[in-house]
Amino acid sequence: MTAVLFGFKCIDSMTEALCNKIDAEQGGFEFRRFPDEESYVRIDTRVEGRRVVICGTLDRPDEKFVPLHFLAAACRAEGAHSVGLMAPYLAYMRQDRQFHSGEAVGSREFARLISNSFDWLVTVDPHLHRIRALNELYSIPSRAVHAAPAVSDWIRANVERPVLIGPDEESEQWVSAVAADAGAPYVVLEKTRRGDRDVEVSVPEVSRWREFVPVLVDDIISTGRTMIATVEHLLEAGMKPPVCVGVHGIFAGDAYSSLRGAGAAQIATCNTIAHESNAIDVSPRMVEAVRSFL
Ligand code: R5P
Repeated sequence: MTAVLFGFKCIDSMTEALCNKIDAEQGGFEFRRFPDEESYVRIDTRVEGRRVVICGTLDRPDEKFVPLHFLAAACRAEGAHSVGLMAPYLAYMRQDRQFHSGEAVGSREFARLISNSFDWLVTVDPHLHRIRALNELYSIPSRAVHAAPAVSDWIRANVERPVLIGPDEESEQWVSAVAADAGAPYVVLEKTRRGDRDVEVSVPEVSRWREFVPVLVDDIISTGRTMIATVEHLLEAGMKPPVCVGVHGIFAGDAYSSLRGAGAAQIATCNTIAHESNAIDVSPRMVEAVRSFL
């Protein structure tokens, strides 16, 4: 039986491409908010006995989780064979331990919620740091797709003489993979974060890289403070205006305009979260991963 794919606030072109590639029917549903902001969901595609894929990226997760859960629950109530989640961006991965007593560990609690609602999970480059693999958190089968090959293709095609720069130790896993694929050198800096919007980074051996175009690569651009501090330091040190590449461009508040204002030559992100900076398409790899669950 043909699978059914429901796209919830996903990039339309990605939902359509996925539907075509996995040979699924695009599911129809009604979603609205009641006047008191509660969510209403009603599916109008027959799902009985069918495999269901729900495509919903999880930036701004608090407002998206309840509708996604209701969508999955409605599919189950109508007899779906299975219900999987394709979340190009997976939220709540950064609070992966208690930093202060009394804190909830967001990554673990969110994983519990998602694992209760869905049968499997596909995502792109989740922020794995102290947690090494999704199955340490998620009790459902999961697959993490790597954006590195698509990112390095983009760098090869768009940047002449790049030196890749990772703003912190956590970024090394992405930067080293992208650099290897792009055949470019890389440097990893040291970052000190004093608060949500207060970040300081070390400067690399500038004289060695002055003739190169710095390409900052990070998995997430949220407040943009990490990238902004790095761009400012590199410019002050006399390097060329950097190109900023983020796998997931969340761009909280005025992060995008501030990063441009800081002197970034170009900002490119993957299409895991809809944004005008989307330049790198990761959907072909997601298709393969979703297919493995159908
Ligand atoms: C953190 O470890 C991540 O890899 C990113 O560096 C971080 O999330 C970026 O956040 P922001 O844009 O708020 O500085």
